[in-house]
Amino acid sequence: MYDDIKHWVEMDNPLLIPSAPHTIPYQEESLIKFLNTIQFKSVLDVGASTGRIAQLIFNNFDVETYHGVDLSIQRLQCAKSVTEKYKGVGVGPDIEFYGCSYYDFRPEQKYDLVIATEVLMHIPPPKLETFFGKMVKESKNHVISLDYYPIPFKAIPNLADHNFLHRYPDLYIKNGFHRCQEIRVSDLQSMFHGQKE
Ligand SMILES: C[S@@+](CC[C@H](N)C(=O)[O-])C[C@H]1O[C@@H](n2cnc3c(N)ncnc32)[C@H](O)[C@@H]1O
Repeated sequence: MYDDIKHWVEMDNPLLIPSAPHTIPYQEESLIKFLNTIQFKSVLDVGASTGRIAQLIFNNFDVETYHGVDLSIQRLQCAKSVTEKYKGVGVGPDIEFYGCSYYDFRPEQKYDLVIATEVLMHIPPPKLETFFGKMVKESKNHVISLDYYPIPFKAIPNLADHNFLHRYPDLYIKNGFHRCQEIRVSDLQSMFHGQKE
């Protein structure tokens, strides 16, 4: 049976990035376009991995704080090295990556934006509420997730046992957002956004 922590610790290798590469340009284009419509200066990147989203944000937005968390120590090494150049000397953004399970991560602050791309789809249904509830609690305002979400919503055949199809709009509403905005990325993927203020 799939154990999320065990699975991702075993996949602790920057070369084992399971994302479908052809979806990346669509994801990044949608993300940049959407992030341009909101205000944020501090970011928590849940499942930060090799720093793909960190680089996208640093290349396109002006942020003061960027914290990432991931179970994979080796992928975070990569994230640290690719984001090193964005650190200023004394005045630059506060960039930190924490190698631990998000369930155990205890941040000392809240963030304008908490983002998780292709992470919730790997969280088993019994743990999803705890995981997502923590993201909502640690956000001052925005929460964004991006995952598999086919149209029409129906089971994806032969889904690997580390992938899940969750009902994200219901999850956002259940966790206190009045509205869950869906931004379609491709036939198979959507981005979801909830805003507190
Ligand atoms: C498919 S990758 C997505 C990486 C990155 N967000 C991106 O879009 O490029 C999923 C990442 O989530 C991390 N992850 C999964 N469960 C986690 C948990 N409980 N705590 C921290 N990281 C986790 C994995 O180690 C992996 O790096």
